[in-house]
Amino acid sequence: MSTADKTRVAILISGRGSNMVSLIEAARAPDFPAEIVLVLSNRPDAAGLARAAEAGIAVKAIDHTAYPDRVSFDAALDAELRTAGIELVCLAGFMRIFTPGFVEGWAGRMLNIHPSLLPLFKGTHTHERALEAGVRLHGCTVHYVVPELDAGPIVAQAAVPVLPDDDADTLSARVIVQEHRLYPAALAVIAGGGAVLEGGRVRFTARARDAGAAILSL
Ligand code: GRF
Repeated sequence: MSTADKTRVAILISGRGSNMVSLIEAARAPDFPAEIVLVLSNRPDAAGLARAAEAGIAVKAIDHTAYPDRVSFDAALDAELRTAGIELVCLAGFMRIFTPGFVEGWAGRMLNIHPSLLPLFKGTHTHERALEAGVRLHGCTVHYVVPELDAGPIVAQAAVPVLPDDDADTLSARVIVQEHRLYPAALAVIAGGGAVLEGGRVRFTARARDAGAAILSL
């Protein structure tokens, strides 16, 4: 697949960027339908920025503390994405809440990975809350981003067992392994045109269903 045919993707991070690395590595495959052209962080000290730069990806920090409000920060982010010709945004541990206007501007073109089986455990501390709730299955979800937090149409999910001796660390370690498999698989389907948004839900094309049914619900 030539670079010109690939979907131009930006990854937004705030921290270590392990999901970002899994996307960058997957996108190295010649037939992967997306190219990671830019990694942006709201935190200049995010460890993931150095990891992306080492991988040869353009990186940029837009420090949210330098902006008086969310609207002006989101406007700066939006300008950066549009200047880079970004077609699809992947949030990967990006810890800022967007204004509804920014999200609407990227409607149907922004994905997130969340460490729970949505709609359970929206927000933070998902592993602790899964343990407190006593669920037997936990996992992760790739979903489209909508203004309401962690509420957008679900693209893909992976489940893991919750084991009797788990604490938040052991459970999170089991989930992140699946995150690193799920996000690249979901991005491949979306960037490859294998899914459409219809009535607030994700519908896969017949070809994507055949190829991806086993991948998108692990
Ligand atoms: C992941 O658990 C992801 O699901 C959540 O934030 C964490 C980011 O981790 N949204 P990393 O920076 O990708 O390692």
